[in-house]
Amino acid sequence: AVDLRNRCFLKELDFTPAELGHLLRLSAELKAGRRAGDERQRLRGRHIALVFEKASTGTRCAFEVAAREEGAYVTSLDAAGSELGHKESVGDTARVLGRMFDGIEYRGGAQARVEELAALAGVPVWNGLTDEWHPTQTLADMLTMREHAGRPLRELSLAYLGDTRNNVGQSLLVAGAMFGMDVRMVGPRALWPDPDLVVKPAQEIAAGTGARITLTDDVTGGVKGVDFLYTDVWVSMGEPAEVWDERIKLLLPYQVNELVVESTGNPGVRFMHCLPALHNPRTRVGREVYDRTGLDALEVTEGVFESRRSIVFDQAENRLHTIKAIMVATLGD
Ligand code: CP
Ligand code: NVA
Repeated sequence: AVDLRNRCFLKELDFTPAELGHLLRLSAELKAGRRAGDERQRLRGRHIALVFEKASTGTRCAFEVAAREEGAYVTSLDAAGSELGHKESVGDTARVLGRMFDGIEYRGGAQARVEELAALAGVPVWNGLTDEWHPTQTLADMLTMREHAGRPLRELSLAYLGDTRNNVGQSLLVAGAMFGMDVRMVGPRALWPDPDLVVKPAQEIAAGTGARITLTDDVTGGVKGVDFLYTDVWVSMGEPAEVWDERIKLLLPYQVNELVVESTGNPGVRFMHCLPALHNPRTRVGREVYDRTGLDALEVTEGVFESRRSIVFDQAENRLHTIKAIMVATLGD
C-alpha cells in the first residue's frame, strides 16, 4: 500500500507512478465525499502556512478552502508582509515556520528555494509553483482529463502548445509520462523543456509506463487526433516584461484558435488552461499588449476559451480536491 505520510510534494519526479496514481484516486474520493456531504475532518487542529512570493488566486484559495474544510488553521505570508526575501533567508524562515506549523505551502522563483525550505523545515512542504514545476496544477489537470474522457489516462492524448519550457509545460510532460499518456509538447525549439531536467527523465519514465512523448514545432502534426489541447501564458511570473515582444513573435503560430481546434480532426477535443489566461484585452496586461501590438488575444482566442469545449473552470475546481488530497495524504492520520 502507498503511504505518503510526512512526505513533501515538490515535483512529480520525486514520486512513482503508483504514488501519483494514489493521490489521484484520493482526490476523486474526497471530491465525491464532499459532494455527498461527508463532513469528516482529516486535518483537524493542524496549522498550515501558505507562503506566496508570487501572486496567486487559484492555488491560494484551493489551499485555504481545502485546509479549512478539513479542520486546519491557515496562516498566509507574502513577500510584502514578511521578512522572507528581504531580511531573512529561506533557510532561516524554514526553521522558524517548521517550529510552529505542521505543513507549509510555498510559491516562489527557483525550485532550489522550495527544496531548501523542505530540507530545513522538518515538516511536509508543498510546491505551489516555482519557475521549473507546478505539480499541484498537473494533478488537477490529470483528474480533469480523466473525468471528461471517462477513460484511463493511458488511453488519452494531450497537446500542450506555446511556452513548453515553463513550469506548467514541464510538469505536464513528466506527469503525462507517469500516467502513460500520449503527451505532445508543441512549440518553437527555443522554448522546449529542459533536456536534462525534464525530457530525459520523462523519456525514461515513459519507457516503463508505455507513455508516448513528442516534442515538435509543427502545430498541424502535433495536434492531430488529440483529446485535449492545453496552453498557458507566454510570459510567466518573474520573467521581465521585455521578453513579451520576442515571445509573441515566437509563439503566435502556436496560439490555440479555431484553426488549431479544426486541425485536431477531433470534434470532441477539449480545451484546457491553468489560468490566469490572456484571451482578451480586458486585463491590465492584456490591454498593454493590445495597445502595443493590436493583438486582442494571445495564447488562446476568446472564441475557444469561451466555447463549449473549454473545461478550464473544471480544472480550477479540481485544484481544490487535488490539493486537499496532497495535504491529507502527507499530513492526515
Ligand atoms: N493556476 C494557478 O496556479 O493559478 P494561480 O496563479 O491563480 O494560483
Ligand atoms: N506559467 C504561469 C503559470 C501560472 C499559474 C506562470 O508561472 O506565471
